[in-house]
Amino acid sequence: MADSHHLYQNIFTSLIDGVLIVSTDLKIIEGNLSAEEMFQRSRGSFEGQPLSELFPEQPEILNKIELSLSSGTAYHHVEGIGFRKSTGTHFPTNLTLSPILNTRGQITHTVILVQDTTLIKELQESTRQVDHLSSLEALTDGMAHEIRNPLGGIRGSAQLLLKDLKDLEHREYLKIVISEVDRIDRLIKRMMNLSHPPKKDFQPTNIHRVLEEILVLEKESLDRKNGKFIQVYDPSLPIIEADEDELKQVFLNLIKNAIEALPEKGQIHIITQVDPKYTLRKTQGAPPTQNIAIEIIDSGGGMSDEALKNLFTPFFTTKKRGTGLGMAISLKIVENHQGKIRVLSKKNVGTTVQVFLPLRRNDRMTS
Ligand SMILES: Nc1ncnc2c1ncn2[C@@H]1O[C@H](COP(=O)(O)OP(=O)(O)OP(=O)(O)O)[C@@H](O)[C@H]1O
Ligand SMILES: [Mg+2]
Repeated sequence: MADSHHLYQNIFTSLIDGVLIVSTDLKIIEGNLSAEEMFQRSRGSFEGQPLSELFPEQPEILNKIELSLSSGTAYHHVEGIGFRKSTGTHFPTNLTLSPILNTRGQITHTVILVQDTTLIKELQESTRQVDHLSSLEALTDGMAHEIRNPLGGIRGSAQLLLKDLKDLEHREYLKIVISEVDRIDRLIKRMMNLSHPPKKDFQPTNIHRVLEEILVLEKESLDRKNGKFIQVYDPSLPIIEADEDELKQVFLNLIKNAIEALPEKGQIHIITQVDPKYTLRKTQGAPPTQNIAIEIIDSGGGMSDEALKNLFTPFFTTKKRGTGLGMAISLKIVENHQGKIRVLSKKNVGTTVQVFLPLRRNDRMTS
């Protein structure tokens, strides 16, 4: 008998789950080693104390125990929040409540098995986030599909018009419609492939050609403000290796922002040059590279310090119909090209946005 008592005592102590034995007046009679570890306090400090010390402010648990004591029913999967007094922290638990009967069939105690479910909860949370992501992906895919269909219609109609149109200037506009539709289509395809590693399409790119295409596109909205583009291009600006579609997106965002900030008869300077400064590579052994610099200087309203601080934060906008994504996307693209964006702005004076792009492709990009 003494031996079997010893055995039970050993089992009780060694159980991985916390075990608490609770009396009919809801006081803790005994706890095992795991319970000590879970609640980070010695048995001596909670034995004799009310159970509510370990599970404060949870009358539903106490009610269940009272029910188990009065009816003799066991309860599984009771959720409770354990309290660690020493650190003042909480942790999620899963409880099993079992009444103990004496030889006369009377209920004398309740045994509570306590499982710490912190890890399980964390896992559930991360799966939920993945679920969120995949539904977001489904939404993007659905949206992309809905956008690409009408785009097909726009492209087809523009091509039909182009067949009959004689006026050269209007033909140019239509060609831009078609090439812009193709650009959106390519970008949407890329969005749909977001879950795959992005494939960069780096080709020799003439920045002046990129800029000119954007300026033609934006000329009309500038005309509405009687504004003026002033191009100061460095004729010796070299061809760089870049993803042309992505760079178009950058300069479209920047020129749009400049026009939107412009007062009546304002000016936008677009200056290109080979940056006289060499940038030292952070990677050891890699040669220093030189950048080309594209500056977009507007004589617009400028930005407050607050706006300047939040400029690249996604969804930060001061515009009624802005998405606040233009600058965030532009920065990401420029960084993808191992470049930099610098912004200087003064309220009521104007804004200068400098885009630096490396002349030579870094070796890492070829991988
Ligand atoms: N050239 C500029 N002059 C003054 N403010 C600017 C300029 N460029 C950006 N900003 C400020 O930065 C904010 C964020 O710009 P961003 O291009 O990211 O979004 P947006 O222009 O508001 O929206 P979207 O680009 O979707 O139309 C703008 O709302 C504006 O307050
Ligand atoms: Mg913008």
